[in-house]
Amino acid sequence: MKLTVLTSYEALSKHAATLVAAQIHAKPGSVLGLATGSTPVGLYAHLAAMHKSGALSLAGVTTFNLDEYEGLTAEHSQSYQAFMQQHLFGHVDLAPEKTHFPVGELVSTAYDDAIRQAGGIDLQILGIGGNGHIGFNEPGSSFDSRTRAVNLAARTIQDNSRFFAQASEVPHRAVTMGIATIMEARRILLMASGKQKAGAVAHALEGPVHERLPASILQRHSDVHVLIDEDAAAALKHL
Ligand code: F6R
Repeated sequence: MKLTVLTSYEALSKHAATLVAAQIHAKPGSVLGLATGSTPVGLYAHLAAMHKSGALSLAGVTTFNLDEYEGLTAEHSQSYQAFMQQHLFGHVDLAPEKTHFPVGELVSTAYDDAIRQAGGIDLQILGIGGNGHIGFNEPGSSFDSRTRAVNLAARTIQDNSRFFAQASEVPHRAVTMGIATIMEARRILLMASGKQKAGAVAHALEGPVHERLPASILQRHSDVHVLIDEDAAAALKHL
C-alpha cells in the first residue's frame, strides 16, 4: 500500500483529482469505479473545474458507482444517482449511457458481468465507513461477496441520517458492489478525512485482515494508494 498524508481536506481533494486526471490522460477510455458520500465531494469539484478549464475530458470514460440505496430512483434527491448528477455528471462531458449504478437489471452479479464486459475497473475510488465498511459491505461481509442487496448497519443508518429530513426516511437497505468485485479493480484509491475515520483507517491499514473490518482486505491488493488527511491519520502507529 502506498500512503500519502495531506495537511487538509482541500489538499487531499486536489491530490486525488490529480491522480484521477492522470489516469484519464494515460487512458482516455478508462473505466472508473466511483464512490459517493462526503469524502469525494472535493475531488469531484476539482474534476469538474479541470473540465471547465478545458484541461480534462471524460468523454471516453465509463463509470460504475459502488452502491445505491434500495428503492431510491434517480429522481429522489438523496439517491446516489442524484448525488453523482449534482457533484460530477452534471458538470462534465461523460456520456449518460456510460454511467452505471447497481439498479434495475444490474442489482446483482449482472453488475459484475457489466463491469467485466466494459473491460474491468481501471481505478476504483473508495471512501471508508466509520465501522470500516467499503461500498456498503458492512462488518461481517464475506471477502468473496459480489454485487448484492444488503442490510445497512445501525451505525451506517445513523451516519447517513444527516442527509435526510427525518430519521424514518433513511433507507435500511442498499445494493453494493461486493468485496471481491472491488478487489478486481486494477488500482484502488482509498480516501479518508477527519478524526471520525481515524480508528477505521488504523484498523484497515495496520490491523489484522479480517471480515469484521472489511477495508482491511485492501492490504491484500497489489495497487492501493491511501490518501488521507492528518486527522484521519491520527491513530496510525507506523507513519
Ligand atoms: C459511498 C460508499 C461508502 C462511503 C462511506 C464514507 O458510495 O460506498 O462506503 O464511502 O460510507 O462516507 P463519507 O464519505 O460520507 O464519510
